[in-house]
Amino acid sequence: MPMIKVSGVSHAFATPDDGVVHALQDIDLEIADGEFVAIVGPSGCGKTTLINAMAGLDTPLVGTVTVAGQTPSAGNPDVSYVLAKDSLLPWRTTLSNAALALELQGVSKQEREKRALEALGIMGLGDFGGSYASQLSHGMRQRVALARSFAAKPRILLMDEPFSALDAQTRINVHDAFLSAWERNKMTVVLITHDLTEAVGLADRVIIMSRRPGRIKSIHDIDLPRPRSMVNLQGDDRFHQIYETIWQDLREEVIEDTSFQGKERVA
Ligand SMILES: Nc1ncnc2c1ncn2[C@@H]1O[C@H](COP(=O)(O)OP(=O)(O)OP(=O)(O)O)[C@@H](O)[C@H]1O
Ligand SMILES: [Mg+2]
Repeated sequence: MPMIKVSGVSHAFATPDDGVVHALQDIDLEIADGEFVAIVGPSGCGKTTLINAMAGLDTPLVGTVTVAGQTPSAGNPDVSYVLAKDSLLPWRTTLSNAALALELQGVSKQEREKRALEALGIMGLGDFGGSYASQLSHGMRQRVALARSFAAKPRILLMDEPFSALDAQTRINVHDAFLSAWERNKMTVVLITHDLTEAVGLADRVIIMSRRPGRIKSIHDIDLPRPRSMVNLQGDDRFHQIYETIWQDLREEVIEDTSFQGKERVA
């Protein structure tokens, strides 16, 4: 049984001027337990709409989504959702922010602090447990949010552009930290990203979505061996070949994206 199953999903939104935006059309997708899937596609093609449906934050108008065999629901402790914008609580320390999901699950203070510290260490923040969000850089705050998700060891990790706030050097280090944490836990991951390097380097499969209404345009298996390292992949010919093939497929969607040509952008 797939861990995540999307069957015949279409979704639309009403616009303030009584119009309709068709966000998703006929999406069928199965994601296996322990699989790492990346989804890329032009801005506004429905990626967030799709992952929101997996997280149980929105119900598609047509079709069904199941997660671990059930209708998704927002409070499911098996599922962790990481957004582009960190959602740290400013009055809590880094350590207690990282332990938040565990606290909500009722894990004891000693155990949750141990797991939160370990997760912060993986993200290179072992020395910042006592700091508050206002004392951290943007990239550090995002790493705390990632640590919080890891500390809870969810079976399913849904991520909407979680690395986009990081500068290029930090990003590559966080990618490798993330990869090693994932190799240990092998949770099912759905990663939405605009960074094709990140998608190819991290995922088992890369899914390309077409322009709105978002459909699945193509699916690419990434047969690079694991364990992987983003740092090492930079010099790997096979990685660049795969990247180039997928980019040719994606560029048609991105280049014809009228939202970049000064026309109205519904977002
Ligand atoms: N709550 C909403 N109400 C109305 N329209 C919405 C709503 N959420 C999304 N949309 C519209 O649905 C379409 C898809 O939006 P979505 O956020 O899923 O795109 P996306 O692929 O995540 O884009 P980006 O890459 O810019 O994050 C867009 O046209 C957007 O304006
Ligand atoms: Mg989005």
